[in-house]
Amino acid sequence: MNIVITGASRGIGYHTALKFAERNGNAILAIARSEEKLQTLKNKVEAEFPSSNLDYIVFDFYTGDYGQLEIEIKKHFKHVDLLINNAGYLVTKPFLEITSEDFDQSFGVNIKAAFRLSQILIPLMKEGAHILNISSMGGIQGSVKFPEMSVYSASKGALSILTEVLAVELNDKKIAVNALAFGAVDTEMLRTAFPDYKAPLTAQEMGAYVADFACNGKKYFNGKVLPVSVSTP
Ligand SMILES: NC(=O)c1ccc[n+]([C@@H]2O[C@H](COP(=O)([O-])OP(=O)(O)OC[C@H]3O[C@@H](n4cnc5c(N)ncnc54)[C@H](OP(=O)(O)O)[C@@H]3O)[C@@H](O)[C@H]2O)c1
Repeated sequence: MNIVITGASRGIGYHTALKFAERNGNAILAIARSEEKLQTLKNKVEAEFPSSNLDYIVFDFYTGDYGQLEIEIKKHFKHVDLLINNAGYLVTKPFLEITSEDFDQSFGVNIKAAFRLSQILIPLMKEGAHILNISSMGGIQGSVKFPEMSVYSASKGALSILTEVLAVELNDKKIAVNALAFGAVDTEMLRTAFPDYKAPLTAQEMGAYVADFACNGKKYFNGKVLPVSVSTP
């Protein structure tokens, strides 16, 4: 499979990419800002899973030029089977302290990146392809909400709705679109925001789940935003 995954330099995306690499013959394109971490991931795949291939593009979803990103992606792939919009940015601040930049960066990474990447990659997708968006329990209507999460949760809410709408629009092309809305997972993002909270799942465990769902979930789900959480949050 040809797979594009964002936010693969660390956390859940990193472990999802590794899980894909474990399966023979996958070609994975990882996108994030940290070249050093992406190169570490590439080295690990080359050393441990030589029958798969992982390459990367260094790109900032907030400040980057999507026209250039499109050119770079098309140098790697003529077709794409799987897009995982996993990159995420979390700001925790009281509502009145959230700056315009916080807003733009949150919406830039959490929704615009998924929106623009989908626009770039859908023309390269055939019947049976899957777009998997990584949302959050905070981005689901009616879930328990937490203070200081307004801009993050609102941007993840937009991603959840995009998932539902895009699935309808891509129905004729038989391209599935789903979202997994995570509860707490032990990553840098969670530890920075909630240093005292003990998450029930590791990034490795969630990465394994995401990789499995990305391959098999489209058979059972389309246009769904699925809570993946054993805790609150
Ligand atoms: N951990 C949780 O408890 C939890 C709960 C609910 C939802 N989620 C969601 O799960 C996904 C993975 O999160 P995680 O916990 O693994 O977070 P993480 O460890 O902070 O990783 C976030 C990833 O996103 C990338 N990223 C952030 N800003 C970017 C930008 N401007 N341009 C390009 N890439 C950018 C980071 O790479 P660089 O820094 O190298 O750019 C990194 O690879 C996110 O969408 C997050 O919102 C996580």
